[in-house]
Amino acid sequence: MSGIDDTPHDATVIEVTLTGPAATEALGRCLALACRPGDLLVLNGDLGAGKTTLTRGLGAGLGVRGAVTSPTFVVARRHPHPEGGTALIHVDAYRLGSRAEIDDLDLLDGADAAITVVEWGADRVEHLSVSRLHIDMLEVDDDPLARQVILRPIGPRWAPADVEALTRCASA
Ligand SMILES: Nc1ncnc2c1ncn2[C@@H]1O[C@H](COP(=O)(O)OP(=O)(O)OP(=O)(O)O)[C@@H](O)[C@H]1O
Ligand SMILES: [Mg+2]
Repeated sequence: MSGIDDTPHDATVIEVTLTGPAATEALGRCLALACRPGDLLVLNGDLGAGKTTLTRGLGAGLGVRGAVTSPTFVVARRHPHPEGGTALIHVDAYRLGSRAEIDDLDLLDGADAAITVVEWGADRVEHLSVSRLHIDMLEVDDDPLARQVILRPIGPRWAPADVEALTRCASA
């Protein structure tokens, strides 16, 4: 499909192991530092993997208004920034099947001034932006608090310096 860029030059992968929910929130704060308005974050991982927890850390790092909780029933929640800074658009795409349903949400409306996070976004929202940060969260055998997280920056927005900054923060 035109406009989608999943070519192999986007082979960079950042892997981190998180020891508990606080570490997951801390990674979310790293995302607040590394991301900028217009970015699209595509979160994947099973039920309870920590997608909303990660987004909560991102919201805290941005300083947006409103509690970041699961948008499962509202599908999408917009968190403005109290001083006109970067907002957060938080989406749960679990129940959304078709591209038409995604497009009906008008996610791109206001997205230039926001960071957009889509839980369960893989194979659903790639058409929205040629550049994306895919984040896969995996549970770890034998440790209910641990998560392995794989971050894949895709597309021209993610210049090497941006990837390095994210890697440094995520690995600290
Ligand atoms: N390292 C960890 N990171 C995040 N959450 C963790 C971690 N360890 C344990 N947990 C627990 O796992 C749960 C994660 O819930 P959360 O709502 O963030 O998951 P989710 O991936 O958004 O789930 P859903 O698919 O239902 O939206 C919380 O109860 C949290 O306390
Ligand atoms: Mg969730």
